[in-house]
Amino acid sequence: MSRVAYVNGRYVSHHQASVHIDDRGYQFADGVYEVMAVLGGQPVDEESHLDRLERSLSELHMQSAMARPPLRAVLREVIRRNRVRDGILYLQMTRGVARRDHPFPAKAVTSLVVTARPATLPPPETLRAGVHVITLPDIRWKRCDIKTISLLPNVLAKQQAREAGAFEAWLVDEDGFVTEGSATNAWIVTKTGVLVTRDAGQSILGGVTRLGVLQAARDEGITLEERPFHLKEAKDAAEAFLTSTTSFLLPVLKIDDTVIGGGKPGKLTDRLFHRYLKKLSTNKKRSTNKNEKKAAISTSNPV
Ligand code: PDD
Repeated sequence: MSRVAYVNGRYVSHHQASVHIDDRGYQFADGVYEVMAVLGGQPVDEESHLDRLERSLSELHMQSAMARPPLRAVLREVIRRNRVRDGILYLQMTRGVARRDHPFPAKAVTSLVVTARPATLPPPETLRAGVHVITLPDIRWKRCDIKTISLLPNVLAKQQAREAGAFEAWLVDEDGFVTEGSATNAWIVTKTGVLVTRDAGQSILGGVTRLGVLQAARDEGITLEERPFHLKEAKDAAEAFLTSTTSFLLPVLKIDDTVIGGGKPGKLTDRLFHRYLKKLSTNKKRSTNKNEKKAAISTSNPV
């Protein structure tokens, strides 16, 4: 089956989908994005992702390409046309097409691209085996709370991790505190059983999975601290894990050369994982809103 992408008002075949070479996303990385998991044909935590998208747009003084109800409809239509049951949905908005010049164009029309693909999230053996992370200096800008498509430092960090045989790079600020991973949020459990993750300021992306896991921790009655933690504290932790839409919740069993929790996924990590999974499985059962479906069909065109 051939894949279908949504590009600026049209559903087109994936291999022909394209944007203009003067698109400001291409020229300046002047845009924002969201990645949602799809389970049972439904986007997971859709409203939280759309809230974060609106916040990112507003911080960059960009207009949304469309209002939320038709956008939801487009997302569902892209999932439907690609026959995705479980997978990944990608949405990107940029400041549109204009002659290359740094200031915002006078009449910017926001570009919108949406794609979806099937994926298994993540393979169960990864969950059991856990992952290794390396640490690197955080060389990113000071507004990591905005989910911008400008991801070069993240790309370089992830590549360095892969070359070192690790799954992820945890980024460390100038004072030696862990900010987050190149594409994930970072968590530890102290030896006294306290769950710690960095507070959602401007130095990390406020992960949607992070929010879900925080709620899972509250539901489980786990003591929780949202604060920066030093790399030394991380290496001395009883447990560590990372979270993201595409990784869900993965145990971290080694940070650089330091083995965490005897090299096995910890009890609290396991509890949180199962509580979070329970929440996700209820997402699968949610039914599609009929009105949104209708709206999608009326805005669609044949491939
Ligand atoms: N990355 N921190 C960074 C820097 C990220 O890029 C991401 C997500 C996260 C986790 O956020 P969430 O739980 O909302 O996925 C944290 C996505 C998946 C990506 O760029 O592919």
